[in-house]
Amino acid sequence: MDFQTLYRKKTSYVNKGLTFLLNQRKSHPLVLEAMKYSLQAGGKRLRPILFISAYELASNDNSREGCTQSELDAIIPMACALEMIHTYSLIHDDLPAMDNDDYRRGKLTNHKVYGEAIAILAGDGLLNLAYEVMLEHLPSSQERLSGYLKAMAVIASSAGISGMISGQSADIQSQEGENDESVLNYIHSHKTEALITGALKAGALVNGGDTRVLDALSGYGKAFGLAFQITDDILDLKGDLVQLGKAPGSDVKKGKLTYPAKYGLEKSRKMASQYIEEAVSFLQPFGKKSEFLITLAVSMLSRNH
Ligand code: IPE
Ligand code: IPE
Ligand code: MG
Ligand code: MG
Ligand code: MG
Repeated sequence: MDFQTLYRKKTSYVNKGLTFLLNQRKSHPLVLEAMKYSLQAGGKRLRPILFISAYELASNDNSREGCTQSELDAIIPMACALEMIHTYSLIHDDLPAMDNDDYRRGKLTNHKVYGEAIAILAGDGLLNLAYEVMLEHLPSSQERLSGYLKAMAVIASSAGISGMISGQSADIQSQEGENDESVLNYIHSHKTEALITGALKAGALVNGGDTRVLDALSGYGKAFGLAFQITDDILDLKGDLVQLGKAPGSDVKKGKLTYPAKYGLEKSRKMASQYIEEAVSFLQPFGKKSEFLITLAVSMLSRNH
């Protein structure tokens, strides 16, 4: 199967999983509607796809491409939980108190439709639901349980104050005119790279991945995550509202510390490309099994959304 077909297939599993998991819930209709609004607006589903692909990489079975349907059914709740955490972070990131943005995933931002109070609650709801869903789908086998719990711990810390939340805090502080290289790298590695690497490590842990796989995925994730945020910064300057689904120019307006602001566009492009090369180098020893993750990394350099 070619890369695009595989990507679409994985996206479709994740989307079906999200619909199923949200339709099961009983809650106040307004907050649930706001949660579904952002979750089902689209998005690349990158973190769940990285998670599923890392699970596949960690498999000992080389005789087939990808995982079996029953394996996929077992890991989809955690894949969906990652997307819930990511989507909560976007809803809160767009709030007037943070980036104050009006468009996301090609639609008005959550608070523009539901108001700030409900947008805050929708974000809280998604973050909480992620952990509810993971805990409701603990594996029944003792052998699998330990890896699953380790994966949950990695997800919790990469989304929390050891990861994304600290990156967001530093990002907000950077608007005060910060221009330091180490601060810029702190922001990018925490606000974006942490959850990306967390998703990859979680996928391998759930499949009993050994140190060799985990170390390779960490190296890949760190370089991929930085390149991903650099390309996000570039798209803020060069992107188009319709393709991007969010309004360009937002970083400049708020005086954010970004790669193009610090190094200029050309150097930023070069740095993104070097990071992708580095990411790829970590997975090359895995041969055919790493083809999907390698093509995914390379595709980040030409993304327009
Ligand atoms: C946007 O993430 C926020 C960043 C961390 C750069 P994505 O670019 O993955 O957004 P969606 O999920 O596709 O909307
Ligand atoms: C946000 O970074 C990262 C998150 C943790 C949500 P940005 O603020 O650059 O993301 P966009 O550009 O709004 O998607
Ligand atoms: Mg932001
Ligand atoms: Mg933002
Ligand atoms: Mg951005």
